[in-house]
Amino acid sequence: MSIDSSVGSAADTTAQTGALSADADWWRQAAVYQIYPRSFADADGNSIGDLRGITSRIPYLKDLGVDAVWLSPFYPSALADGGYDVDDYRDVDPKIGTLHDFEEMSAALTEAGIRLIVDIVPNHTSDQHAWFQEARRSPKGSPARDRYIFRDGLGPDGAQAPSDWESIFGGPAWTRITEPDGSPGQWYLHNFAQEQPDLNWKNPEVREDFKKTLRFWSDRGVDGFRIDVAHGLTKDLPENLPTQAEMDTMPQDGSHPIWDRDDVHEIYREWRQVFEEYSPPRIGVAEAWVSSERRPLYASAEGLGQAFNFDLLEADFDAAQFRDIVSFNLGLSEASGSSSTWVFSNHDVVRHATRYGLPTPAEDPQAPADEKAGTSWLLSRGSEPRLDAEGGLRRARAATLFELALPGSAYLYQGEELGLHEVAEIPDADRQDPTFFNSPGVSVGRDGCRVPLPWSRQGGSYGFGPGQAHLPQPEWFSRYSVEAQEQDPESTLNLYRSALRLRRELQSREALEWLSTHHDTVLAFRRPNGWICVTNFGEVPATLPSGELLLSSSPLTTDGELPGEATAWLQS
Ligand code: GLC
Repeated sequence: MSIDSSVGSAADTTAQTGALSADADWWRQAAVYQIYPRSFADADGNSIGDLRGITSRIPYLKDLGVDAVWLSPFYPSALADGGYDVDDYRDVDPKIGTLHDFEEMSAALTEAGIRLIVDIVPNHTSDQHAWFQEARRSPKGSPARDRYIFRDGLGPDGAQAPSDWESIFGGPAWTRITEPDGSPGQWYLHNFAQEQPDLNWKNPEVREDFKKTLRFWSDRGVDGFRIDVAHGLTKDLPENLPTQAEMDTMPQDGSHPIWDRDDVHEIYREWRQVFEEYSPPRIGVAEAWVSSERRPLYASAEGLGQAFNFDLLEADFDAAQFRDIVSFNLGLSEASGSSSTWVFSNHDVVRHATRYGLPTPAEDPQAPADEKAGTSWLLSRGSEPRLDAEGGLRRARAATLFELALPGSAYLYQGEELGLHEVAEIPDADRQDPTFFNSPGVSVGRDGCRVPLPWSRQGGSYGFGPGQAHLPQPEWFSRYSVEAQEQDPESTLNLYRSALRLRRELQSREALEWLSTHHDTVLAFRRPNGWICVTNFGEVPATLPSGELLLSSSPLTTDGELPGEATAWLQS
């Protein structure tokens, strides 16, 4: 099989302008590393990762070569949902540090040339938030209740939930409170866990308070915000609520009562004004699980500016799927003036080395057909015997080099640079994720990708901290530790380091042209300045185009060909 460098059809060519060197555009092609603070590094030994732990690992992040870090929530929280249940948006959880630690971390990141993005959770607070506590204590119809979505129950004594809606984490989406006088009371809406009451974004106080939060962190050196459940905030609930089944069939065209409503963009236009108060302007990236066509609304320059594109994360390791996704998304971002985002792993999904090592539903008759990211599936399989750990990692390394050569920004999740697999062997008694508790026997939850990182070969928590790790680490973490990989030139850690360094050197305009490969299992594209990326999704080795080999995810064959399930970067 051979590949030539003839250019693909004009329709495939996506050329965008964008100056990476201009400060305000730093995000357009950034490599952003997601830190899940509780599981990154624990400096104080309380088994939960902390901000001082992050600060101590900044040299590691600098060596890795990332442009920015995104911190999942570090705010005070009872951890009903790993910190996405926020008690106070303008403080640091005492379990993981202080505001002073935050300021030190932020300054040290700046010193190292690394930008800082923090998570904002505006769809819901936690039930421990002062507002919700006040709402519980206050009477029906009070201003305090109006910050949330309270309704009377149905039936003569209001004992029946206002509707049959289900929460995303399983179980009912309404919970009843006890009124201050001890009588059974109203119900509140929570699209996630019951500890996460949804806010009422029609309430002006809610709107003003979040702008205050954006300024609070922007004033403390934060460069941008990842917006949690960005498609959820505004709701328009009629007096007579539709059933869950009716809602499921309603069009998601901006008029749905709960999700992806057009009026949510009024909020983001206001936030944009806050972003523009700073120099360079603060940035936003929306976590919006919406149809691809509606993603540009979130990514527009008048709105948040960028939105996660989870299309590659949801795809199989397949040439045709990857090519279609890339062409389609580069077209979308060109239309909105944004840059595309690429992501394979985060704190909500099974790690991609593992996904690519499991049989697809089609290959496994026992696998539920609707399971892509496969957490439930993994539950019944464990990490063995069906996991092809080596093959999964080989494909993940190939996919990552493909991703890092694309125009746009790449969001990497802590531990993927170690080639970590999902930890399947967590005893039920140690599990923390509400999805596990709310859907017994159905979902094992997301703890398997949140196990604290292994930094060293040995030690009680493999170097995570002086104490134990808050989720049990398996023995095989030793082999995947930073220490074990540091000296091995072929390690996944060193592959990421080389790739990120080269990416910085090679990256220029946000343009990509597909090259003909004469084979439907091989993709090749060229970026400006002769940077060529070739990925072989098949099993038969492929001849590379002429050029200097810069890097490959697997060694070339003795004939100098690109083996199956591998990516190479060349300079032509
Ligand atoms: C987002 C977060 C997820 C969290 C949920 C509710 O999807 O990524 O971790 O559980 O929002 O806040």
